[in-house]
Amino acid sequence: MQISQEKISLRQPDDWHLHLRDGGVLKAVVAPTARVFRRAVVMPNLQPPITSLQDVVDYRKRIESVIPKELAFTPLMTLYLTDNLSPEILKEGYSEGIIFAVKLYPANSTTNSASGVSDLENIYSTFETIEEIGLPLLIHGEVTDPDVDVFDREAVFIDRHLDPLLQRFPNIRVVLEHITTDNAVQYVQSSNSKLGATITPHHLHINRNAMFLNGFRSDFYCLPVVKREHHRISLRRAATSGQPCFFLGTDSAPHLRGFKESACGCAGIFNALNAIESYAQVFEEEGALDRLEAFSSEFGPAFYGVPFNKGTISMVRSSQTVPEKFNVYKTENEFEYVVPFHAGEQLNWCFESTSY
Ligand code: DOR
Ligand code: ZN
Repeated sequence: MQISQEKISLRQPDDWHLHLRDGGVLKAVVAPTARVFRRAVVMPNLQPPITSLQDVVDYRKRIESVIPKELAFTPLMTLYLTDNLSPEILKEGYSEGIIFAVKLYPANSTTNSASGVSDLENIYSTFETIEEIGLPLLIHGEVTDPDVDVFDREAVFIDRHLDPLLQRFPNIRVVLEHITTDNAVQYVQSSNSKLGATITPHHLHINRNAMFLNGFRSDFYCLPVVKREHHRISLRRAATSGQPCFFLGTDSAPHLRGFKESACGCAGIFNALNAIESYAQVFEEEGALDRLEAFSSEFGPAFYGVPFNKGTISMVRSSQTVPEKFNVYKTENEFEYVVPFHAGEQLNWCFESTSY
């Protein structure tokens, strides 16, 4: 890694948590990610979700068909865990290299999670297989119990479900995705090296006040929902700490404007346009730019046991204003748009180039 006042070069990063969607949105959002990131773990919560190996193979082909030719980008595919997904499928998918990981959504915890797992206890035999074959288990860590306050759902999930799961299956490699609380930071820090956590740019930049600034701001609504300031501070410390259990996962989750603004607005923040610059800003503010490369490009591959990327990316210090809209074309003249994270704001760093 090389850092000067004007330029940063670092080993090419990977995005360990990404939503690419399908159809026109997929076509529009793949390039901004593939420009910067060499690989990305692609989430399976499409509608309908990716629940068979054939679904995975077909989705991967659709992704590959829209990757710009000049970019090297590998989608790492995941399968969506349901109450009755057969362990045999997981075995076959992992041994054949079709799936990289399996994603656990508690049923109705977030976008397109209705077919998720209704009770973790019911699929303990599947966890046995997951542990036995060494398949990474990626977890959306929130309870769905309506009696639990929405801001407490991650902390309660850790106590009620994650801790018992890890006690029972201490050798499963688990990623607690998009952590949002000091509770999660502490839990992951105090666990063994088989538990990791991804941290998004948005949870490092905003606290829950952002959602309620002079009205309701659905652009800042995501799940798990952003929390109080002290949680954000804890996440910033964790991300910049140099501890290998915390690594980059953007959770970039595009929703067309109409869906964000509807009476039941969708959860998700689209940050793929400038995710790496957004992280760089946080690391610089924390005086930890020298730790950005480990967080973005080394701790993830080390956790998953895959090679580090060989290429590099560079960013230059140059103020950029993030666009207000990102267009998704339906036809040549007809488009809808997604509002990107940091819309209308200035970022200090600007992605320059990738060399493979
Ligand atoms: O905010 C979120 N959006 N959180 C998730 O867990 C899912 C994601 C999406 O798919 O939109
Ligand atoms: Zn996600």
